[in-house]
Amino acid sequence: MVLPVYVYGSGVLKKEAAPVTKDCPGLAQLIADMWDTLNNAGGVGLAAPQVGHNIRLAIIDATAFKNEYPAADGFKRVFINPEVVERSEEESRFNEGCLSIPGIHEDVMRPKRVRVRYFDEHFHAHDEWLEGVPARIAQHEYDHLEGILFTERLAPIRRKIIAGKLRHIARGKSGADYKTKIM
Ligand code: NI
Repeated sequence: MVLPVYVYGSGVLKKEAAPVTKDCPGLAQLIADMWDTLNNAGGVGLAAPQVGHNIRLAIIDATAFKNEYPAADGFKRVFINPEVVERSEEESRFNEGCLSIPGIHEDVMRPKRVRVRYFDEHFHAHDEWLEGVPARIAQHEYDHLEGILFTERLAPIRRKIIAGKLRHIARGKSGADYKTKIM
């Protein structure tokens, strides 16, 4: 089932999310609904707070970037309680967007490679180094679980330039072609 995406201005996007427990009610259904929501909106990543659930869960599908970055082809992950345990010193610039901030795309600097530890949907533990687009998306989604939006990582001058657009979104005029919500 496609869920509405909470957009900029919603309190849930600014909170630190709570750890997921194994007996978390409705977890499998929520993950299935998040995949439906991500595919419907044509996104590459979605964190549970973006659909109103303040828990440490995010999904990634980097396939849309497979032409530019072959390693992104088939890169799909469910991250439960992820942790970024190492970051490369080397950074890269990438034009990011966010389903919760429709219509805004800005370059963001982030570490090029990250080592992440997480549990998948079967609660199997994983520990892997990511690089390129998967590393980028993983860091963006991890930020969501910390209550951080990519616009907060922009230089003050860029934030100033997009401030009007953000206010627009917060007033419910997102212009997104998928279902959105503010709360
Ligand atoms: Ni996002």
